[in-house]
Amino acid sequence: MIFDRRRPKLTNFETLYEAIGGAEGVRDLVSRFYPKVQAHPLLAPLFPEDIHPVMEKQYLFLTQFLGGPSLYSDMYGHPMMRGRHLPFPITPERAEAWLSCMSAALAETSIPEPIRKLTIERLSGPAHHFINTDSSDR
Ligand code: HEM
Repeated sequence: MIFDRRRPKLTNFETLYEAIGGAEGVRDLVSRFYPKVQAHPLLAPLFPEDIHPVMEKQYLFLTQFLGGPSLYSDMYGHPMMRGRHLPFPITPERAEAWLSCMSAALAETSIPEPIRKLTIERLSGPAHHFINTDSSDR
């Protein structure tokens, strides 16, 4: 992978999906991410014991969210992701925790730092948008 460090942008790739390694890259990222979620005291209680169905959906969703094929919508229709998160109390702290698990997962990969940073920036919007509960309520 050739990466132009003078321009920390997607200079060599059409999409973040390609930049993080396509299907294989997304699979790898998802498989590094969920063990961290399951080990996080603020996040673990929200997730089912059998994490595999969640991992599969996240693989489908992240693929399309990062500019790859529309795998999630093809299977489940319109993502309506904020709505799908409403049953779960998502506080600002949980949004930060989710992003920190994703940063840690990205840091374990060989994805170049500027691409990792862009990925977190791209996910930061939805993570904060999914906040539906005040810190003081939980
Ligand atoms: C802000 C912090 C977040 C928390 C605490 C959180 C938590 C959760 C929980 C508890 C579930 C349901 C697991 C189950 O099926 O029982 C879920 C599902 C999911 N989350 Fe998140 N999430 C967060 C942010 C995000 C972000 C930023 C994305 C992607 C941009 C995302 C993508 C998904 C997807 C694709 C699913 C599966 C939806 C489905 O059921 O079809 N989440 N999340």
